[in-house]
Amino acid sequence: MVRELTKRYGNVTAVDRISFEVEKGEVFGFLGPNGAGKTTTIRILTGLIKPDGGKAFVAGYDVLENPIEVKQHIGVVPEVSNAYVDLTAWENLLLVGRLCGVPSQELKENAIKLLKEFGLYEVKDKIVRAFSKGMKQRLLLCMALINDPEVLFLDEPTSGLDVESARLLREKIVEYNKSGKTIFLSTHNMEEANQLCHRVAVINHGRIAAIDTPENLRAQSAELQYVEAAFDKVADLRKLSENPNVVKVLSVGNKVRVYTADPHTVVEFLVEFAKRNGLRILTLNTMMPSLEDVFLKLVKGREAVIR
Ligand SMILES: Nc1ncnc2c1ncn2[C@@H]1O[C@H](COP(=O)(O)OP(=O)(O)O)[C@@H](O)[C@H]1O
Ligand SMILES: [Mg+2]
Repeated sequence: MVRELTKRYGNVTAVDRISFEVEKGEVFGFLGPNGAGKTTTIRILTGLIKPDGGKAFVAGYDVLENPIEVKQHIGVVPEVSNAYVDLTAWENLLLVGRLCGVPSQELKENAIKLLKEFGLYEVKDKIVRAFSKGMKQRLLLCMALINDPEVLFLDEPTSGLDVESARLLREKIVEYNKSGKTIFLSTHNMEEANQLCHRVAVINHGRIAAIDTPENLRAQSAELQYVEAAFDKVADLRKLSENPNVVKVLSVGNKVRVYTADPHTVVEFLVEFAKRNGLRILTLNTMMPSLEDVFLKLVKGREAVIR
């Protein structure tokens, strides 16, 4: 639970009075461009930096009053690696586990289980310096999971990763969420937010522009939907704009794009229009706005709505 959280760096307000709630068991996405305030928010919620204003509770503990309890109940994959490159994967895991107070026997068992699960068991005695970016990131996730946390914070975990490693990480995020962990995931990747998150907060310039499910975010931008049709002959398109369900008509090459909040009615109307004008329909498609369209609309303002 976050209320009016604010963080300033000099005259830059990195996080500007943001408020939101994350449900237990949810994958909550923090979606925004570079510099939006994602990392700053995660640093506050994980007790690394103090806010200038506002309150935050994580796993039921106040991050300002009970930072130790918070740390015991969370796992973090930070934006910048926190693994020691001169230590082996095994040593890194034991070190983090001890810092979190995991009992020795349980720690070793967890470490072995995680290394196997993330395909790192064979390289557990190699120093991390020799790891590829994908291997390092998998290790960071193992480190974040070593204390079996309730809440997992992931700061752009797949950013800059090869396709294979990114996919493995995403699969693991889904799997750990299904096993009951709450996940707070920051990303600038629309598709990732769409795939993984139950709800998404869109953040820009330290402010939250919208919070909703990916589906609802798209539905909110109903006017970004369009029906695209191609006819066999040049048609007089002026009649199309007269229909009350039509927001805008664009012709693109030999196709016509009809923007509408009600694609069903517009499809019927286009079929009727073709019949009446002796046209054959060559193609007819309904296009939903992508999360990217919605995102652009929210963060870039009105001028990006209909390009
Ligand atoms: N340690 C810092 N010192 C000064 N400015 C910072 C610092 N950390 C972040 N900022 C500024 O705060 C804003 C938000 O940054 P950040 O939270 O890292 O965004 P994101 O993770 O979404 O890319 C940016 O304008 C950034 O330049
Ligand atoms: Mg960041």
